[in-house]
Amino acid sequence: MDRILVKGNGALSGEIPISGAKNACLTLMPATLLSDEPLTLTNAPRLSDIATMTELLQSLGCEVTSLQAGQVQAMSSHDLNNHKADYDIVRKMRASNLVLGPMIARLGHAVVSLPGGCAIGARPMDIHIHGLEALGAQIELKEGYLHAKAPSGLKGAVVDFPFASVGATENIMMAATLAKGTTVLKNAAREPEIVDLADCLRKMGAQIEGDGTSEITIQGVDSLHGATHPVVSDRIELGTYMLAPVIAGGEVECLGGKLSLVQSFANKLEEAGVEVTETARGLKVKRTTDRVKSVDVVTEPFPGFPTDLQAQMMALMCTAEGESVLEEKIFENRFMHAPELTRMGAEIEVQGGTATVKGVARLKGAPVMATDLRASVSLILAGLAAEGETVVSRVYHLDRGYEHVVRKLSGIGANIERISGE
Ligand code: UD1
Repeated sequence: MDRILVKGNGALSGEIPISGAKNACLTLMPATLLSDEPLTLTNAPRLSDIATMTELLQSLGCEVTSLQAGQVQAMSSHDLNNHKADYDIVRKMRASNLVLGPMIARLGHAVVSLPGGCAIGARPMDIHIHGLEALGAQIELKEGYLHAKAPSGLKGAVVDFPFASVGATENIMMAATLAKGTTVLKNAAREPEIVDLADCLRKMGAQIEGDGTSEITIQGVDSLHGATHPVVSDRIELGTYMLAPVIAGGEVECLGGKLSLVQSFANKLEEAGVEVTETARGLKVKRTTDRVKSVDVVTEPFPGFPTDLQAQMMALMCTAEGESVLEEKIFENRFMHAPELTRMGAEIEVQGGTATVKGVARLKGAPVMATDLRASVSLILAGLAAEGETVVSRVYHLDRGYEHVVRKLSGIGANIERISGE
């Protein structure tokens, strides 16, 4: 298995291009299932999660053609010939559940494997299921698969989400575009990826208002047509690379970044003593002091601090001046990077959903293991400023969500390389 070797190499400088958002692309791709005309996405990121979604859509009978070295995904769901999303693909990626809403809306039935380790009514699909049931779908769990049908079509309804789930908002919003009448989603998620999906659906002829607020109204239409849509910039990749010059020192411009995508995160960086400036081309980030100040972080749904940047922020806090408290409110078990950072000399105490980090002057390189996507990149960030060598193993996690990470970080002066495994 491949590993990544990072050596602390002093200050970083230069430009780093930000790719299209993984999470937006993963929800835009299933939107193709809503129409029998082609949907083309531009600015798509080249990632293994996108390959998994491609495999899933192809298994349903969609044509997916990757053009311009994967930056363009041209899709057609003219000849859907399968309504079953198989466990073997779904188990690889939770976002696979985003085919459920579009398939019931277009075909009137769908069979989708649960992503594993959960029973009906419990996490992580209960909010999706209740939302689709409110629109008239009948859903049963049989042998690990959700069997959903809506023999007389979906009907618009008011859906009040108990929690602003990103995936449930996306699934129900897509389903409602083809339902009869009006659907109102209350306590909807407000993430930029939801606004991007709504923009794409509007290009396909959907009638949607209020995306980006907690109340979204969808007026169902008879059919959707083809469209071409550019995927929004990846705010998590942006936040990750904004941290590189903060951790290692220096000044970097993240091309294609916008403050509106990462406002709460940028506020925390400014509180820690970092300069963040919006330019015509992106976001410029500069560390102005020797060590940043510790800040406290609570993860929340957008526009709050993103859970997907918590691990990376923890890497920064490991060498900040003072003590920082990071509270994880979205996922229960999301501190798996803490013991790995501790191996590099960090002082972290985890209790339930709270991690307390006492900043140390410098981390020391060590062999560490990636446990999930964002955890893996936090270890690379930590390695950028550590003394000596850090070797991160299990980098397949990283390939799920970071395009050309070695090339991008080398481009701003980092000493980083990928070592092929046997
Ligand atoms: C999306 C993102 C993920 C991000 C997360 C939170 C994609 C592909 N993934 O995931 O990177 O970390 O938003 O910003 O866009 N929950 C339930 N029942 C449900 C659905 C969710 O209990 O039916 C719980 C989940 O277990 C979790 C929380 O709600 O604890 C947040 O989940 P949700 O907002 O749905 O995240 P995802 O859409 O899965």
